Amino acid sequence: MCGIVGYLGSKEAYPILIKGLKRLEYRGYDSAGLAIHNGETIRQYKRKGKVSKLESAAENQPKEGTLGIAHTRWATHGEPNDVNSHPHTSTSGRFHIIHNGIIENFDSIKEALKKRGYSFQSDTDTEVLINLIEDIFEEGDMPLEKAVQAALNQVSGAYAIAVIDNENPDLMVVAKMGSPLVVGLDNGHFYVASDATPFVEYTKKAVYLEDGEMAVLRRNENISVFTVETDSPVEPYVHQLTLDIEQIEKGGYEHFMLKEIYEQPRSIYDSLRGRLLPEEEKIIMRGVSEYKEKFLNADRIIIVACGTSWHAGLVAEYIFEEMARIPVEVEYASEFRYRNPIINENDVVIAVSQSGETADTLAAIKLAKSKGATIFGVCNIVGSSIARESHAGTFTHAGPEIGVASTKAFTAQVAVLTLMAIKIGYERGNLPKSEYIKYLHELNRVPDMVEKVLTCNNDNLYAIAEKYAEAENALYLGRGVNFPVALEGALKLKEISYIHAEGYPAAEMKHGPIALIDENMPVVIIAQKNANYEKVVSNAQEVKARKGKIIAIISPDDTEVRRLADHTIEVEETYELLSPLLTTIPLQILSYHIAVIRGCNVDQPRNLAKSVTVE
Ligand code: F6R
Repeated sequence: MCGIVGYLGSKEAYPILIKGLKRLEYRGYDSAGLAIHNGETIRQYKRKGKVSKLESAAENQPKEGTLGIAHTRWATHGEPNDVNSHPHTSTSGRFHIIHNGIIENFDSIKEALKKRGYSFQSDTDTEVLINLIEDIFEEGDMPLEKAVQAALNQVSGAYAIAVIDNENPDLMVVAKMGSPLVVGLDNGHFYVASDATPFVEYTKKAVYLEDGEMAVLRRNENISVFTVETDSPVEPYVHQLTLDIEQIEKGGYEHFMLKEIYEQPRSIYDSLRGRLLPEEEKIIMRGVSEYKEKFLNADRIIIVACGTSWHAGLVAEYIFEEMARIPVEVEYASEFRYRNPIINENDVVIAVSQSGETADTLAAIKLAKSKGATIFGVCNIVGSSIARESHAGTFTHAGPEIGVASTKAFTAQVAVLTLMAIKIGYERGNLPKSEYIKYLHELNRVPDMVEKVLTCNNDNLYAIAEKYAEAENALYLGRGVNFPVALEGALKLKEISYIHAEGYPAAEMKHGPIALIDENMPVVIIAQKNANYEKVVSNAQEVKARKGKIIAIISPDDTEVRRLADHTIEVEETYELLSPLLTTIPLQILSYHIAVIRGCNVDQPRNLAKSVTVE
């Protein structure tokens, strides 16, 4: 979490930094700040709240200069206020830093620095780091980059940092460990950012620093990269970005979340394209084929993930077990990594992550890797830490997801995991050829079916949203492969509208949550016709008997649930194991409308950040 931006070149830094911060605001929006060197001195502006507040604070203030750093914060150490905002400055006022990550041993370093006469304005670990850099610089009579390097060798934790010097308007030093950092290059211009979105309109050339690397950016010179620990030079690999500016703009939609919901026919299609070949009766997935023997002989698949990605993992559990008959365990990455899990060499660990940067998921796969398991990454961001830490993997091609609440990334994950399950199930001999071919053709129809769900239901969902926008609680029920969809529906509602919502397996309702049901309680039931249909009808009856308000997702030809429900949303029927790709969509739209009606900031819900790079 936290987003960092930097610029060194011949253009005015301020507009580049502000625009960059707005693109990275999804990473945190507790406060924002920037520091710009005008050739003589550094000026800083920072404010609690969003980037727009910072802009107002800097309006009519001098901010010219061609070197600058900027930061948007998701608070870890110290409450969100002006003082704790980045950039932070060393005690003498000379050095300025922005930082994404956590310095774990900051307390002991702070105590030692205090004894040496350093004073601290903020509660942050970052201010400790910049003072440590200053202390080493003063003591050691060395260039700034060497002082940064020495300081980084004393700290433990995670960082992506950029440091500038009041005495040198031509230099920026950046470094990375555990948090993302990319440098855009364009003939004499350096752009630094947490991801490439702040500079994609200026250059498509980018160097992604690896963990333990730092780079010196000097005006009119080439980037130089070396390792923090051993000071060895590294030849930077220049990536050619494929990201387009249109992909990261709202394109006429009121919110990114809505745009991303409506992009799903495309993002699912893109995630299947070139892989799902029904006419040739083939699924081509290079990563799976490279590790074919591991998958075919796996004793177990362990899926590790967090949040919405964990829900995608739960959907995959049903599909893998049914199709491939391999036992699957789905673990919260944060629990897995801290409980001494039993992992064997015959286990395949699948890490599911949109950002590819989630700290707990990353730590979980590092642990599993150290115990000999095969690690397979399902990530949306090429070059991300989880993708690089995996032995093999496959990307979801959802495109950039900017709304903090995950939508299109979820369906892309489910689509890719489904594809894997069909392939592995068939190759293991568990899925008969006739079934295999049926699934290939049906999965191929999913993008069109999603399009239909999107076009048919919006008005109906808006009317339902208007009715329940003031609800205080909501219950989501589903069975089988649609139980994780219920969890995901509840998560979407609570994170963007702040209504308390819970997802449950429908049959579990009577073991507790039924006590909550009264005439004010909306209960969303995923009740399509499938193997569990009759059971779900009974569950709907139980809700009705307690006067709960039923919002049901039903098959178009349904009569039984339609009779019981207060509101129905028709979703075309497909094979049960593919149904989450369709049933999820109306739940996303419902949450979106409710949040907008309640006046919530759907793209940037309170307290959240898109990329959770802290534990
Ligand atoms: C919810 C949401 C989060 C993420 C979770 C994992 O809408 O977006 O729950 O799913 O933080 O993030 P990734 O997938 O980037 O590892």
